[in-house]
Amino acid sequence: MKLKFILCLLLSGIFFQIKAQQYSIIPQPVMVIPGTGTFDFSYSVNIVFDKEQNENADYLNQYLAKYYSVRPILGGGMKKKIALRNPGIQTDNLIQHDDEYTLSITGDSIIIKGSSAGVFYGIQTLLQLMPAEKISSFQIPCCDIHDYPRFSWRGMHLDCARHFFSVEFVKKYIDMMAYYKLNMFHWHLTDDQGWRIEIKQYPLLTQIGSYRKETMVEKNFDPYIGDKTPVDGFYTQEQVKEIVQYAAKRHITIVPEIEMPGHSQAAIAAYPELACYGNNYEVWTKWGVTNVTLCPTSDVIQFYENILSEIISLFPGKYIHIGGDEVPDDHWKNSKQVAELMHEKNLQTYAQVEAYFINQIEQYVISKGKKIIGWDEILEGGVSQSATIMSWRGTEGGVAAAKKGNDAVMTPGKYCYFDHCQSQNPLEPICIGGYLPLDTVYSYDPMPSQLSADESMHILGAQANVWTEYISTGDKIEYMIFPRMLALSEVLWTQKKNMDYWNFIGRLEKHFELLNMRGINYRVPDVKIEVRTMDGNKFMIGMSCIETDAMIHYTLDGSNPTETSLSYLEPLTLTAEECKKLKAIAITKSGKRSLIISN
Ligand code: ACM
Repeated sequence: MKLKFILCLLLSGIFFQIKAQQYSIIPQPVMVIPGTGTFDFSYSVNIVFDKEQNENADYLNQYLAKYYSVRPILGGGMKKKIALRNPGIQTDNLIQHDDEYTLSITGDSIIIKGSSAGVFYGIQTLLQLMPAEKISSFQIPCCDIHDYPRFSWRGMHLDCARHFFSVEFVKKYIDMMAYYKLNMFHWHLTDDQGWRIEIKQYPLLTQIGSYRKETMVEKNFDPYIGDKTPVDGFYTQEQVKEIVQYAAKRHITIVPEIEMPGHSQAAIAAYPELACYGNNYEVWTKWGVTNVTLCPTSDVIQFYENILSEIISLFPGKYIHIGGDEVPDDHWKNSKQVAELMHEKNLQTYAQVEAYFINQIEQYVISKGKKIIGWDEILEGGVSQSATIMSWRGTEGGVAAAKKGNDAVMTPGKYCYFDHCQSQNPLEPICIGGYLPLDTVYSYDPMPSQLSADESMHILGAQANVWTEYISTGDKIEYMIFPRMLALSEVLWTQKKNMDYWNFIGRLEKHFELLNMRGINYRVPDVKIEVRTMDGNKFMIGMSCIETDAMIHYTLDGSNPTETSLSYLEPLTLTAEECKKLKAIAITKSGKRSLIISN
């Protein structure tokens, strides 16, 4: 630990809380038993594996070649081995769940046992024990690990409708999830501002719906200012198949979301007959919730069943997300067809109209052997027992669902919206609003305390949502999700009794380095400034950064600090005037910079 760090921690009173860890694994496993000695990668290594572990062997092999130029021999007879094994029926009765694994590292061998998913997670743990620099000769510490997750739904969502992200980036996103044992990728493919998946029966959905003529500049709603720059793009079905396969190799299930009956203006722009009236809709260029919605007629429902038939044939997972959030009444209130429908079907409220729509779609999805999942609004008009609820307006939707016997996935805005700002620093890049710092994500427990043991079985897990109104590049997505996704992975995987924020922070340093090696643009945490009053108009200043390896630079004249400014090595004694002008920045070894913080 560096001197400057010890000093600033002493000053801030957290000296005994942050400790660098020998095994910096995130998420923290169930059990890590330290060993003695190391396994040495300086010599030829071979990978032996059971047939079911074929793809895992391939994954490990490619990773070692890419990052370390280590070229193991697959199935060779060398003494130093990495063995990927199915659990023995009698010998390994410790391993009971699909995602469970054991990892044993000795001087001669690395043995990972589990199902195909379990071994994949064991490989992720192993990779985190390797150095965070591209060297081909290195050792890793011996240990025995036994591990399994707390929750089965460990999700990340990505909104590819508000902005379009390339196939290459979507694969990177899947890789980033896989490094942290996340397993459900909720792919938001359609919204008012764009339709992003090819549907062969309805080519205008992408010919018209995937093109937005421009985007609102920042938050200029009224008066509206557009940027006059088109946003365009969609995934072909061939690309979708490629991404589905890529995810499957990483034990990630894709949950496609086709929004209905709200958030559908891009589809309506392509096929105006999907609305109850009007024919001059455009792919929306503003953010928020449009008034126009799908009309709940049998033709529109048939249209959406046809879309879903193609979606279902592309995505092998059991869940189809049908949206269902934020459906305004306005369009339906003015529609004669909706009035007739309400009369005919004895529907009293617009929530019941939505339920009528969703229930028919659900019956169709069930008839194809799949399940629907939808945002928590779908509970309001009544929904069948087999629907899974995504609780986003808080945790109440998830609690209500579990009490009714419906499964639920928790994504409350307060803890899980990674489009919210990570700091209150005025230099923070534009975000949608809200404030969700790292420690708040870490503090989340997806299991609501008010549920009985039986009810709590319906809480499948949680996920973070990444809405991209104010995120137009892959780089910014990475900035928004890291390091918060690391906290989420621990919330979802680690046993509650092993959760410890300061221990997590102690393990983060290695992960900042790994993220850097893996080419991921994480957010460097701001410098924390602590001020203590001393005698005689003097102040003692301590500064620290969660990224303990970064150098802190500061200025006392109000100018912006750079790498050539003063380096912070020990607590400072400053006058009130100097204190007021203090500005600081953290700069990592690889040159990444935090935002500048002013005292
Ligand atoms: C949502 O954030 N509208 C689900």
